[in-house]
Amino acid sequence: MQTTRLAQFGSIDETRDPDYFVRFLDAACASASVQAYKRRLLELLDPRGGQRVLDVGCGTGDDVREMAKLVGAGGLVVGIDNSQAMIGVAWQRATGTNLAVEFHVGEALALPFEAGRFDSCLADRSLMHVPDAARALAEMTRVTKPGGRIAVYEVDFETLVIDVDDRVLARKIVNS
Ligand SMILES: C[S@@+](CC[C@H](N)C(=O)[O-])C[C@H]1O[C@@H](n2cnc3c(N)ncnc32)[C@H](O)[C@@H]1O
Repeated sequence: MQTTRLAQFGSIDETRDPDYFVRFLDAACASASVQAYKRRLLELLDPRGGQRVLDVGCGTGDDVREMAKLVGAGGLVVGIDNSQAMIGVAWQRATGTNLAVEFHVGEALALPFEAGRFDSCLADRSLMHVPDAARALAEMTRVTKPGGRIAVYEVDFETLVIDVDDRVLARKIVNS
């Protein structure tokens, strides 16, 4: 059975071309609709000066750097991802920015942090790739302070609409 590249987001380092996933995320992040929902997600998470924030499945760390601008030098934003390749790119992109960020290779199902370590926690399009999303969410809840915010964004592929003339091709793509 052929595994689609979307399904491989859970094990990027085992693929032949981990950089494909970096390019995929960069292309997605360039779209106005992704930028718009990300703005809204950060509004809801509302990171503030001096806070500690965790990004689960941080990918290239673009959201980590964005949130680090909001928490400032007195805060800290930590990105965790199970892909060494992604964490490598995240460190590269943060180099020279002087932002208060850290990146770790780690598993969403067993976050390597003590309970209540963070003021808030984000997961953007990560939980769909984790084998047990409920457990990952329980982990995010554990490491977030009581009363802290958790923001999660996921895609509902059942409602995906592709506006093209070739319906047969569109169905093939959606079902692949
Ligand atoms: C679609 S990308 C989203 C990246 C980033 N959140 C963004 O919005 O650009 C999903 C990310 O989750 C990571 N990931 C997948 N399964 C994971 C797991 N079990 N634990 C930690 N990270 C995981 C992938 O390596 C990938 O970087």
